[in-house]
Amino acid sequence: MNVLLIGSGGREHALALTLSKSPLLDKLFVAPGNPGIAAIAECVVVDTADHAAVIAFCRLMKIEFVVIGPEAPLVAGLVDDLEAAGIDAFGPSRAAAQLEGSKGFTKDLARDFNIPTAAYGRFTDKASALAYLARHPAPIVVKADGLAAGKGVIVAMSDAEARQAVETIFSGAFGQAGAEIVIEDFLEGEEASFFALCDGDRALAFASAQDHKRVGDGDTGPNTGGMGAYSPAPIMTPEMTERVMAEIIEPTMRGMNARGARYKGVLFAGLMIGRDGPKLIEFNARFGDPETQVMLPRLEDDLLALLLACAKGNLPVGPVHLSQTSALTVVHAARGYPEAPEKGSIIKDIEKAEALEGVIVFHAGTKRVGADLVANGGRVLNVTGLGRTVTEARNRAYAAIALIDWQGGFYRRDIGWRAANE
Ligand code: AMP
Ligand code: GLY
Repeated sequence: MNVLLIGSGGREHALALTLSKSPLLDKLFVAPGNPGIAAIAECVVVDTADHAAVIAFCRLMKIEFVVIGPEAPLVAGLVDDLEAAGIDAFGPSRAAAQLEGSKGFTKDLARDFNIPTAAYGRFTDKASALAYLARHPAPIVVKADGLAAGKGVIVAMSDAEARQAVETIFSGAFGQAGAEIVIEDFLEGEEASFFALCDGDRALAFASAQDHKRVGDGDTGPNTGGMGAYSPAPIMTPEMTERVMAEIIEPTMRGMNARGARYKGVLFAGLMIGRDGPKLIEFNARFGDPETQVMLPRLEDDLLALLLACAKGNLPVGPVHLSQTSALTVVHAARGYPEAPEKGSIIKDIEKAEALEGVIVFHAGTKRVGADLVANGGRVLNVTGLGRTVTEARNRAYAAIALIDWQGGFYRRDIGWRAANE
């Protein structure tokens, strides 16, 4: 079958590479893709915000299945419109994507279906938010309700910082995403990213990973989309996975059904694993970036068959087969990321990195300008190592990234510090 993948990041490069190995695939189109993806699929220009244009393109190219990488088209209802046109799509409907699109929606669902999460309040005006803060001292977490590209969360270590966060969000710093605020208790523990495939009725555990959100070594500096990751997350033992499925994922599936918004696609749970078990920090309605770049190289099953089964409502009973390999990715970012990444610097010698054993380089914010490859975004490359242990995977990733000649980039030196041995 012909498939259209939507997106342009490292996540989509990993999806494209894995989909391209499927025996079910005839031709893969990617809109818009990136230079790394262009080597394995046909990159096309389609305005994905124009749903009629996407549908027309699918008809023209006889595309039977659309895989959506990022959250924005999901929240905009692209899956609803494709399905109404008779085209299968991987991802939740607009109503179900509220699990990512509104933190308040997710918190209320958790409360109503006994899903463990931090205690919280929802506010649409400053006075009541500040009154809540007066009763709930720091540390406390203040969040813009809507999509804010990962920037709408302030973990406040002092009362003054918490009050400032309320002021900032209600002053319009995050636009419409900040029209409502969620304030919640600060959770302690170890974070993990967990992914389940969902077909509307059933969910199947997919894989876990550990992300590194802060920009600097030692988990310092501002939050980013993610500076590196490894899979599996050692804390997600088989027993913990079972608990997360039973206590968080399955009640969410039931809750979404009860709300009339069946959940199909991948459900990405950001978890805090504390002394009394797993708690939900947030849901995303899509694969993680850079988590996907370390999960998919471990997948032994046919990804296209699994994603199709989510769309068609016939997921296999399972389990998903992952290799015993560890994978670790280091994000090579443009100087200035996350605030103001510098564009246009030239990147050389990626092929030297790719020539090493157990190394895959995924492109994210890259662009071809004539014969040159240049930086064109914040997170630019994801240099991924595979190995028998996370230490071996890490050593391969760092050996590879050292071979890339890019003056305009930087990366964290300590990805995997919690899991790797020297
Ligand atoms: P989110 O965008 O909701 O995933 O939040 C971004 C980051 O803020 C998370 O990955 C956590 O590190 C942190 N965070 C969010 N909520 C909490 C919480 N309730 N307690 C502690 N840390 C949190
Ligand atoms: N790496 C976190 C995310 O994809 O949201």
